[in-house]
Amino acid sequence: MTDDQHTPEWPPSGMDLGKPTIARAYDALLGGKDNFAADRALADHATEHIPGLRESAWENRKVLVRGVRHLAGTLGMDQFLDLGSGLPTVQNTHEVAQAHNPDARVVYVDIDPMVLAHGRAILATNGRTSVFTGDVRDPKSILGHSAVTDRLDFSRPAVIMLVGMLHYLSPDVVDEVVTAYRDALAPGSYLFMTSLVDTGLPAQQELARITRESLEEGWARTPEEIEAQFGDFELLSPGVVYTALWRPDEPTDPNNLTAGEQLGMAGLAKKLA
Ligand SMILES: C[S@@+](CC[C@H](N)C(=O)[O-])C[C@H]1O[C@@H](n2cnc3c(N)ncnc32)[C@H](O)[C@@H]1O
Repeated sequence: MTDDQHTPEWPPSGMDLGKPTIARAYDALLGGKDNFAADRALADHATEHIPGLRESAWENRKVLVRGVRHLAGTLGMDQFLDLGSGLPTVQNTHEVAQAHNPDARVVYVDIDPMVLAHGRAILATNGRTSVFTGDVRDPKSILGHSAVTDRLDFSRPAVIMLVGMLHYLSPDVVDEVVTAYRDALAPGSYLFMTSLVDTGLPAQQELARITRESLEEGWARTPEEIEAQFGDFELLSPGVVYTALWRPDEPTDPNNLTAGEQLGMAGLAKKLA
């Protein structure tokens, strides 16, 4: 693994442990260990208000794995830029992609410096994977970062992932940001996204509200708004659907989804030209 920053002290200097972060609170929801009391308090508070929230976090991880498996295994993709990658957990993008395609290259980006600190340790022996700290809202600096330009070749097909990340892009920036990533891709590339959704269930906007209050960003979008972020890319079957219904490993009844299965949607689309 490569990066161009020095090893941070632990915990990374300047980190305010009394304030939750998105990455650590999500890790707490998943039952991980890379979080602090403030993150666990937020996860508990949100879980009390939002039935099925922990399950929904796991549904998001599961669809990430299915999506990467499909991209690397079936579609033969070997370049992945995972934006808002989160803290390392079980079955990370590079593990899934490289299990299907050992040559797959993966670059992780996250705004939370703890992701770099933990990612470096996990990726130390993996020469085809990098991680760096960056703000997805600044596509120019992300796409121009040496970790990306050294490892990924955007003149040929690649995958950009905004998994569990789209809903942290506010309405005033989302169009411009996602368009910049779409424009950077060559024909034959894919955009893979999941997002908190608004299908009219009160828990969805309530989760967005709690997230905005505690973590500054958090926006629930309608399925149509999520679909619009794929621009003129061609959506692969089954389109933008609840994550549990996106190419599930086992038959899943769309009329019998749990509360947690109705918080997020996923979609995968191909750039044709
Ligand atoms: C809910 S987690 C999703 C992690 C992983 N992609 C997944 O789906 O399991 C969202 C991640 O996005 C990161 N994030 C939020 N806003 C970001 C931004 N503007 N730039 C980079 N990362 C961001 C958070 O730090 C967090 O790790």
